[in-house]
Amino acid sequence: YTKLEPALCQELQKIVDALIAPGKGLLASDESPSSLQKRFDDLGVENTETNRRDYRQMLFSVDKSQFSKYISGVILHHETVYQKTTDDVELIELLRERNVVPGIKVDKGLVPLFGSKDENTTEGLDNLQERCIQYKRDGCHFTKWRCTFTISETTPSQLAMVTNANVLARYASICQSARMVPIIEPEILSNGTHGINRALEAHEEVLSILFRTLQEHRVYLEGMILKVAMVLSGIKNSVNCNPQIVAENTITALQRTVPPAVPAIVFLSGGQSDEDAVVNLNAINAYEGRKPWPLTFCYGRALQNTAMETWSGNSEKVEDAQAVFLERARLCSQASLGELDF
Ligand code: 13P
Repeated sequence: YTKLEPALCQELQKIVDALIAPGKGLLASDESPSSLQKRFDDLGVENTETNRRDYRQMLFSVDKSQFSKYISGVILHHETVYQKTTDDVELIELLRERNVVPGIKVDKGLVPLFGSKDENTTEGLDNLQERCIQYKRDGCHFTKWRCTFTISETTPSQLAMVTNANVLARYASICQSARMVPIIEPEILSNGTHGINRALEAHEEVLSILFRTLQEHRVYLEGMILKVAMVLSGIKNSVNCNPQIVAENTITALQRTVPPAVPAIVFLSGGQSDEDAVVNLNAINAYEGRKPWPLTFCYGRALQNTAMETWSGNSEKVEDAQAVFLERARLCSQASLGELDF
């Protein structure tokens, strides 16, 4: 098989290094217009292109040195890459001015996996290489693709695990060929009544099949980032596990399945409260045990919930919303070092 050129490997590693500086994490700001609908509705904000722009402009114009103290990269939605601020500056330029690496979500969303029981796969492989080459020209250096898995008595099924592992591997190898670092996101959803042991089992199965498949596709492990959910009990389970238990189970799942060649693992917040997303990340980093990878945050909701609410479409609230955002980012940063100041 053909190996990646040394210059390409170096380029990918350089991007990874910029993304995983100690004490920093990523902001997932790649919600599609349709996923912002409900959140904007709840706040009485009309879901227009201009309001989405204003919201992201608020986030990306946070004080330069403060922003880059905590955030190394931002995942964007296609629309945001081509939007300009009210002063006619590209939004992506605001990130560059802050030494923050712009990235792009390249999947086209979930579709039903026929033949399964309510499971999904993810679309978007068609023309992916051309799209990646264009995004690279337009200033993005990494990508994200999300597949989801549900936990029930019969799922995740072998079909869903094998199909999505192949989709993720194909995505990752295409991105690497276009000089972009892929964030590979097999998200195991926490919907359901299952206990944490079942979540551990599902993570082990999904991740072991994923890494076997990445190997088959010759994905360059040193030039990728893995994005996972924490191992938690289901939302509808009466037990809300304490941070030590979450840390132990999360680290166990990762130790058993993720090769040390992978340069970083980031977590999604996945509907945890802002507080839980911080204390659980802190416990994971404070946990004593073998952890050959930096473990940091790549949060959407847990970084944005309070800032979005504070902003609520009101231009006079921009500074307040930015302060709230920075406070969440600061706490996540401390947690990524296992140094949360309670
Ligand atoms: P949450 O942190 O809101 O789960 O989102 C992260 C993400 O990017 C999911 O793909």
